[in-house]
Amino acid sequence: MSEIESTQTQTHQSTASQPSQTTNGESDEQLREAWTDHAFDGDTKLAVDGLDVHYGDDHALKDVSMEIPERSVTALIGPSGCGKSTFLRCLNRMNDRIPSARVDGSVRLDGSELYQEGVDLVELRKRVGMVFQSPNPFPKSIRDNISYGPRKHGDIDTGLIARMIGRSDERQERQLVEQSLRQAALWDEVRDRLDDNALGLSGGQQQRLCIARALATDPEVLLMDEPASALDPIATSKIEELIHELSREYTVVIVTHNMQQAERISDQTAVFLTGGKLVEYGDTEQIFDDPRSQRVDDYISGKFG
Ligand SMILES: Nc1ncnc2c1ncn2[C@@H]1O[C@H](COP(=O)(O)OP(=O)(O)OP(=O)(O)O)[C@@H](O)[C@H]1O
Ligand SMILES: [Mg+2]
Repeated sequence: MSEIESTQTQTHQSTASQPSQTTNGESDEQLREAWTDHAFDGDTKLAVDGLDVHYGDDHALKDVSMEIPERSVTALIGPSGCGKSTFLRCLNRMNDRIPSARVDGSVRLDGSELYQEGVDLVELRKRVGMVFQSPNPFPKSIRDNISYGPRKHGDIDTGLIARMIGRSDERQERQLVEQSLRQAALWDEVRDRLDDNALGLSGGQQQRLCIARALATDPEVLLMDEPASALDPIATSKIEELIHELSREYTVVIVTHNMQQAERISDQTAVFLTGGKLVEYGDTEQIFDDPRSQRVDDYISGKFG
């Protein structure tokens, strides 16, 4: 808490006289110019420009701009309350569900603006799937957890009426369930109990089921908000391996409080700090080995946060 207070005091002081310094003595603005020009490997999947989020009068995210390359893992790190989840939710317009939230700025997916009228939110959330901190399987069978989304979107149809009119896609459903569970590295553990209730799985298995469920709608981007924070080290390492595998095909954006985890699994790291600002963004190796911002250096080396 005292950290927040001291940061607030610093902000007041710095707006009056001294801008915050980087490790090289540059101002935050100069630093920002340096990393906004950085070209990451791979084409841009998501381009965020001048993003501001308010909850009522609270300014939770301030003028965030960053480009997220496709088929890679981007980690978002920073102290509690700095706006990581808020940022993540902007990427598939999940903040629309929060009445007090106001989003200004631009987010483009494959060049197309998400914040404009006429965007089909169901389609968007199919393309940009989300996995939350606590596993939240439906209280249904393992099989139904996977096929629920595609069935809802009309991609498969296995109901009684469909069968009566000769339109049963049961084979397609079986394949989809198996493929999604295999991708989420869960198939071998559940193949003999697909009709069991998903709530009977362990926490780590439930989280992989939620990942499988997100994959079943064939997304392009996977947003993960601390997906392993409630898991033991073995379950965590399974999720980490899985994320690494998934990034060959998908664009993964993950929030984590665990810096070693960010360092192990991500290609790029974005560091948000108190006040809702993106302070530094770069290749993960550079951020952890040689951060340019003094505040990021302090945060990473555990001096605060
Ligand atoms: N639904 C909401 N209504 C009002 N304020 C909110 C809401 N969600 C978040 N906030 C506020 O916005 C700021 C950023 O919150 P956010 O949840 O994005 O932070 P975070 O970095 O994800 O934190 P944590 O690491 O604790 O999950 C905080 O001050 C928080 O209180
Ligand atoms: Mg959060």
